[in-house]
Amino acid sequence: MSRRRQIYEGKAKILYEGPEPGTIIQYFKDDATAFNAEKKGTINGKGVINNRISEHIFTLLTHIGIPSHFIRRLNMREQLVKQVEIVPIEVIVRNVAAGSLSKRLGIEEGTALPHTLLEYCYKDDALGDPLVAEEHIACFGWASQEEMQDISAMAIRINDFLAGMFAGIGIKLIDFKLEFGRVFEGDFSRIILADEISPDGCRLWDIETNEKLDKDRFRRDLGGEAEAYQEVARRLGLFPEGSSEVADLNSERKKRGK
Ligand code: TMP
Repeated sequence: MSRRRQIYEGKAKILYEGPEPGTIIQYFKDDATAFNAEKKGTINGKGVINNRISEHIFTLLTHIGIPSHFIRRLNMREQLVKQVEIVPIEVIVRNVAAGSLSKRLGIEEGTALPHTLLEYCYKDDALGDPLVAEEHIACFGWASQEEMQDISAMAIRINDFLAGMFAGIGIKLIDFKLEFGRVFEGDFSRIILADEISPDGCRLWDIETNEKLDKDRFRRDLGGEAEAYQEVARRLGLFPEGSSEVADLNSERKKRGK
């Protein structure tokens, strides 16, 4: 048996070469970082939960016609995905002011926005993923105008779908981050959704109590991050009550005294 080749290690995931050309295995770690990795920690069981939540969401998005890199989940922490050339832009979709938007513009967290706001950040850890305008994206050729049209149209459709899905389980979708990639077919390339969608890259608040059910629990030292991620999964109908996976996650957490 030969050891599979690691292609890249990110803050929350490791990418390995897949079994066939053009495929990649995404391994979900429990590592958590915030503020451009200034803050580091682990959220026990996060990788397992995010792998499952992301599988669920990408599968539903496929059903509404959003093309993505997702092929199938392989096991508790891994999924098989299509290899893409990542567009070096993080797309932030906002419905309610929070986080960096509130800070930057002095808008109180929780203020509903009059319409959905799309923001773009240039993916560069050394620069701290700076906010950029579409003008910068065009100027520096990070994505073409046509690609940006596809990206923004998909981001809005994804938001409409996810906001409804989360509202149905008593959760407000405040904001979230998306990444897209290019796949090449002959002389052409097209844009598909990539990366993951999980409580790591979303702000999710309970509709009734505004309790945070996402990575802000870690960023802001609120505690209960593993329980919050598990609650999102539970409301989505994943890891049914009494399943052995939930028992495993709980006993792992107890063992570590968290
Ligand atoms: P922000 O308010 O810190 O800009 O974050 C907006 C949303 O994007 C929030 O749901 C968290 C997500 N996000 C990421 O997933 N990765 C990042 O590197 C950043 C800055 C935000």
